[in-house]
Amino acid sequence: MERAVLQITLCGLLLALVTTLPNKDDWDIYSFHINSTVTSRYATTVITSRVANRMDESKEIEFQVRIPKNAFISKFRMFIDGQEYNGVVKAKEQAQQQYTEAVSRGQSAGLVSSVGRTLEEFKTSVTIAAHKKVTFELTYEELLKRKLGKYELQIHARPMQPVKDFKVDVYINEKAGINFIEVKGGLSTKALANAITKTHADKQAWVYFYPTEDQQKTCDGCGDQGMNGDLVIVYDVNRDNSMGDIKKSAGYFVHHFAPSNLQRIPKNVVFIIDQSGSMHGRKIHQTRIALIHILNDLAEDDYFGLITFDSNIFHWKRELVQANKENVDSAKTFAQEIRDRGATDINQAVLEGARMLNAHPREGSASILILLTDGDPTTGVTNLKQIQSNVRDAIQGKFPLYCLGFGFDVNFEFLEKMSLQNNGVARRIYEDSDADLQLKGFYEEVATPLLTDVSMIYVGGTNLTQTNFSHYYNGSEIVVAGQITDNDIETFAPQVVAISSQRRVVFSDTNVTVESTDGVSDSHIQRVWAYLTVKQLLDKELQLSGPEKKNVKKEALSLSLKYGFVTPLTSMVVTKPLGENTDVLDKPKEGETPQATPSLHGRTMQYPGMMIPSRDFALRTGPDDYPVSAVNTQPRVTSRAGTAKRKHMKSGVSAGYLRPYTEQVRVIPKGSAFYDMPIALDDTEWFEEAATVVPQRATTGPVFHRFLLKSENQSLPLCFDVAGEVLLKLLHHPTRELSVNGELDSVAHGGFKRIVIHFQTDQHIQIDTNGITVREGQTETQHTGLDLITAGSVTVIRRDKEIDVAAGDVRMVILIQEKGHQQFLWPVLRQKPMDSNATGILALKPAVYEEVPQTPLTKLKISNQETDVTRSNAVDYSILSSPTLDCWLMSAESALQRHLDDFTVSQL
Ligand SMILES: *[C@@H]1O[C@H](CO)[C@@H](O)[C@H](O)[C@H]1NC(C)=O
Ligand SMILES: *[C@@H]1O[C@H](CO)[C@@H](O)[C@H](O)[C@H]1NC(C)=O
Ligand SMILES: *[C@@H]1O[C@H](CO)[C@@H](O)[C@H](O)[C@H]1NC(C)=O
Ligand SMILES: *[C@@H]1O[C@H](CO)[C@@H](O)[C@H](O)[C@H]1NC(C)=O
Repeated sequence: MERAVLQITLCGLLLALVTTLPNKDDWDIYSFHINSTVTSRYATTVITSRVANRMDESKEIEFQVRIPKNAFISKFRMFIDGQEYNGVVKAKEQAQQQYTEAVSRGQSAGLVSSVGRTLEEFKTSVTIAAHKKVTFELTYEELLKRKLGKYELQIHARPMQPVKDFKVDVYINEKAGINFIEVKGGLSTKALANAITKTHADKQAWVYFYPTEDQQKTCDGCGDQGMNGDLVIVYDVNRDNSMGDIKKSAGYFVHHFAPSNLQRIPKNVVFIIDQSGSMHGRKIHQTRIALIHILNDLAEDDYFGLITFDSNIFHWKRELVQANKENVDSAKTFAQEIRDRGATDINQAVLEGARMLNAHPREGSASILILLTDGDPTTGVTNLKQIQSNVRDAIQGKFPLYCLGFGFDVNFEFLEKMSLQNNGVARRIYEDSDADLQLKGFYEEVATPLLTDVSMIYVGGTNLTQTNFSHYYNGSEIVVAGQITDNDIETFAPQVVAISSQRRVVFSDTNVTVESTDGVSDSHIQRVWAYLTVKQLLDKELQLSGPEKKNVKKEALSLSLKYGFVTPLTSMVVTKPLGENTDVLDKPKEGETPQATPSLHGRTMQYPGMMIPSRDFALRTGPDDYPVSAVNTQPRVTSRAGTAKRKHMKSGVSAGYLRPYTEQVRVIPKGSAFYDMPIALDDTEWFEEAATVVPQRATTGPVFHRFLLKSENQSLPLCFDVAGEVLLKLLHHPTRELSVNGELDSVAHGGFKRIVIHFQTDQHIQIDTNGITVREGQTETQHTGLDLITAGSVTVIRRDKEIDVAAGDVRMVILIQEKGHQQFLWPVLRQKPMDSNATGILALKPAVYEEVPQTPLTKLKISNQETDVTRSNAVDYSILSSPTLDCWLMSAESALQRHLDDFTVSQL
């Protein structure tokens, strides 16, 4: 009951907010360009937006864009009436003063806020006189990091309306030659794929994307507000010289070192897994899945250990053991049994992990300690400094410690500091349906050590960035920049000394060609050096204390100011035309929830337990965007996507979801519909894909199963009936040789009787309510209990009420539903395959429809065709609690937009 009240109030709030927002119909973005130039992995991107006020009165015009977190903003300009207004980078304290003054005058202040995993949002606004124009221009810079054998440049396009002159240009210049280049991301699909052109000639590539106004409305995630999504340019360079590329310009050099023709070094790895109470539910579940996959991927000559901890520590085995099949299987069983309970004793657990590695020195191997936790230490030693000091003493620089912080309850800075102090890095794992993939992805980055104890030596070089690296992993890259003493290339001699499996190796090429990029841009290499130096100083500052910290901070600040970088130590102050407020733009820290009130017009709306800044609505965007929702500790806030969107359209204002600032970030997959159901946090119901279909009994006639198809643009889902014991094609994934079919049962209110998963050649897993049968060629194995089954690339985990299936990038849950005393199966796709060629009923896109105005309403318009409908309801079996939902009932053909035969198979 309370929930219902809450929703109504929130809807009211939504409406109220919408009316206070500037009306974007009043102004027109007539040109929007994104121009990115990548030279030697250093990307400089310029976003230019030209906007006209079409009204007879002055209007506040907003500029709001998203940029990669790793980037530093280096320039912002506005051109109004022939006048240029430049953003100025200042020390944070200094800028803060200006900010405070602005706020005290009741003026607004802008900010850069963190959005999702990879992006930050920059926004500012300016008032423009009637029929005048403004040009906004933002520049940001970043060094692309090589991960798993590729560089990725993410470009986020969301101009907020269709734009007549919309362009994205990406130029890549790599002297070593471009090995491959691909374009990915939500904007590279469907209608928009045609708008992308890629030209690639050895050392240069140019990707351009000039979609028409119409195309901007038709892509996935695009609509009347125009485009909304990412273009991700993925590439790698050729590597033939094991010494790597060294480039110099104007007295500075940058060295990219990424040899791949080396033998892998066997590893000793200890996983320390938090199983404290806060890991309850999906987190512990995903951790188990990830761990099982990771264990599967260990090489036979690896040694490993596994510790779980809460207020105590639990060993799978007290010492490291070899990753042979028997041990891996046993560890998987142990992993499967991990249960959440108790408090969090990080200190004891990490020390024990370090002990295990220390007790197992092995010539020619690489040791790695990986900690996964989701909370602060709550028992044992809880003083953070003390833990850090204990851990440092235990590890003594002998191996790296990687800390994975799961969710937003962790003190990420603590983990980051501890990792950096021990030659590792910390990574945030976002609580999300793909958390297991994130965990596995991180592991893959460190799965193949090729070198240890790497020293990069540059005789004749000075002011070097970091030169010593404990490990070098396949697929990554070591980058060092510095100055060439007296710019004397004759005496400059680079050399790399490292340990490869069992032996010391020296990479030196007396003949090494130091390519000169003089002429391209004199300051280019210098900026790469400055970028790397500032990043590393910021990391160092985090680890230090006292006067040392102060010095490092001072150095980082002075470089940030010199090169005009907006870093955590600086702010950009945007001064606007006379009489207008000053914006102060700060870079947020990783995972920081904006703490100061981002007082847009000095007004925030207070709602029980959460703050909703008055203008802080954002569009729902592509798969890489992570709207925030209040879950977990809050009563459920339901934003009916459809409703919000309709309001949005009416007023021409971007709205999509509420963002309570103090809450966690979660992914809502694109196109999801939101339903009012109690939130069971230990499960993923809230995140299920929009195209899950749900059966229900029809009231009369033969046996019917009723299916629900959620809508992308409306709040009411569609529903349709399928008669008889049909064999349905659930998911066919051509590239992975995976197909899943299901047989509907003969019970009037049932679901599926059997589901069969076919994979590789001649391997099948059949699932029914009694158990699981695995057939590999002629061999058949029956599993009836709660069990973990791995067969080839497929993992099946049977639990009480659900069966989890993981196969490559596909994640499926088969719920065991019950009606009367009859059990049946219901499949739900939790993670769609990357490949958009997947077909089947689970791969259906959410429906897009419009109501045909009429009383009573009996027609909907789908793909420009009118269809007869009646208002009905269906049970949503894609959720264990099986709520009943209202829906528009229509024929299967109309709902599917294809003949039902396209979704059936002749054989299970
Ligand atoms: C993009 O930027 C580069 C480098 O500043 C410049 O040479 C090029 O002309 C720009 N391209 C467009 C289309 O503006
Ligand atoms: C390192 O990666 C490259 C490219 O992905 C691959 O060809 C090579 O086999 C890998 N090396 C090892 C030792 O796994
Ligand atoms: C880097 O490693 C070398 C060789 O192990 C050592 O001599 C040197 O002091 C280290 N440099 C730094 C900055 O730690
Ligand atoms: C040195 O480089 C030159 C030109 O790049 C090449 O012709 C020569 O063979 C190289 N010498 C050695 C020893 O690699």
